[in-house]
Amino acid sequence: MRITLFGTGYVGLVTGACLAEMGNHVLCVDIDADKIAALKQGVVPIFEPGLAPMVQRNHAAGLLDFTTDAAAGVAHGEVLFIAVGTPPDEDGSADLRHVLAVAASIGEHLRDYAVVVNKSTVPVGTAERVCARIDQALAARGVQVPFDVVSNPEFLKEGDAVDDCMRPDRIIIGSDSARALALLKRLYAPFNRNHERIVAMDTRSAELTKYAANAMLATKISFMNEIANLAERVGADVELVRQGIGADPRIGYHFIYPGAGYGGSCFPKDVQALVHTAETHGYAPRLLQAVEAVNQAQKQHLFALIQRHFGGDLRGKTIALWGLAFKPNTDDMRAAPSRTLMEALWGAGAHVRAYDPEAQRETRRFYGERADLTLCVQPYEALQGADALVLVTEWKVFRSPDFARIRAALATPVLFDGRNLYDPAAVESAGLAYYGIGRGRSVDSHA
Ligand code: UDX
Repeated sequence: MRITLFGTGYVGLVTGACLAEMGNHVLCVDIDADKIAALKQGVVPIFEPGLAPMVQRNHAAGLLDFTTDAAAGVAHGEVLFIAVGTPPDEDGSADLRHVLAVAASIGEHLRDYAVVVNKSTVPVGTAERVCARIDQALAARGVQVPFDVVSNPEFLKEGDAVDDCMRPDRIIIGSDSARALALLKRLYAPFNRNHERIVAMDTRSAELTKYAANAMLATKISFMNEIANLAERVGADVELVRQGIGADPRIGYHFIYPGAGYGGSCFPKDVQALVHTAETHGYAPRLLQAVEAVNQAQKQHLFALIQRHFGGDLRGKTIALWGLAFKPNTDDMRAAPSRTLMEALWGAGAHVRAYDPEAQRETRRFYGERADLTLCVQPYEALQGADALVLVTEWKVFRSPDFARIRAALATPVLFDGRNLYDPAAVESAGLAYYGIGRGRSVDSHA
């Protein structure tokens, strides 16, 4: 099939590459000329395992191409995906400017029937707004061209995006048009093997499904962080509690890991957007507001532990950070807990030495060169002259460190484990003080 994707960000690029991999002729459109020129050379602007070779392979095979020409994009595709960003507005609502600009451009150039697919995470009612914008542009041309707008949200996780896209656990298709549904079923047939993954519904339900999925996962995390905070106070170990409750299949082991708070491009933005949607419909979403508030507080938690350990005075201290990306296998720093921590440390007069396998460049992009930040090229280099080590992101490379070496390098041997990655007994037997998240045992011994 001939497919066009508008937007070559995470969702657009991964979807485009995976659709090309299945033999479709895919054209990706973006307004960023530098990005398109780079992609044509096989340079993929984001770090995502497996994506670059897939892009290069399909580009070389003539199945995947890139352009800045929106008219060419509209002419190419029988299915036109909108996969542009929906950044949060000041009030937390999703900014639909880019989505509606693509819709206008589709209306300006459309000549034959096409299915327009919203892949971006968009508030309930957006499919109708996209439809209206296309109609408006067609009317301005004085023409009538049939089209359908479908909501088909993406559920890919950064770091596993290619795999998630190639092997989706469900394919949500929100549409009130039998013609559009049939076309999308044909497009997704190769992804829909062995058992039925397509859940067809109306557009509004599809739009809400995406937000509900992310909000549910964010809720599990905030719930667990709350239990961790309680565990710290009552002298329980949340890691044992986690295993104890996860064994119940109704709860499950996934997404109940306490930590430094959730970050990334989706959860913080989507929970806020859903709160905003609820409020604009006259409903106060108390649970969702609490999910967000618990997460904000949790992002400050590591800093509070560090500050308490050093008696409230961090001036002149050097703190080593392992991990900067919001989670492993990505270079993404959006809403990363490491940023909240670094900013608090700088505010308290501390120096940060940090190592991350992929996110150094993103860190520089956010903070530039600054005297109180040293980015290191390997993990142990970050420890030189440091007073404490903080594990912020659970990259594999940090899983089994040499604790004796850490102890020898630190001025005051203390490790703050923001992901409960380590066995407190093993850390302590190497002569390091240990702080985890919600591990009452270790907290008690230092309080
Ligand atoms: C998420 C959803 O998982 C995905 O389905 C959706 O399409 C986009 O948003 P992503 O943002 O890539 O994907 O990251 P995810 O792996 O879900 O992690 C989000 C955040 O939650 C990370 O900061 C992670 O560290 C944190 N997290 C996750 C926890 O703190 N505890 C957990 O148990 C799980």
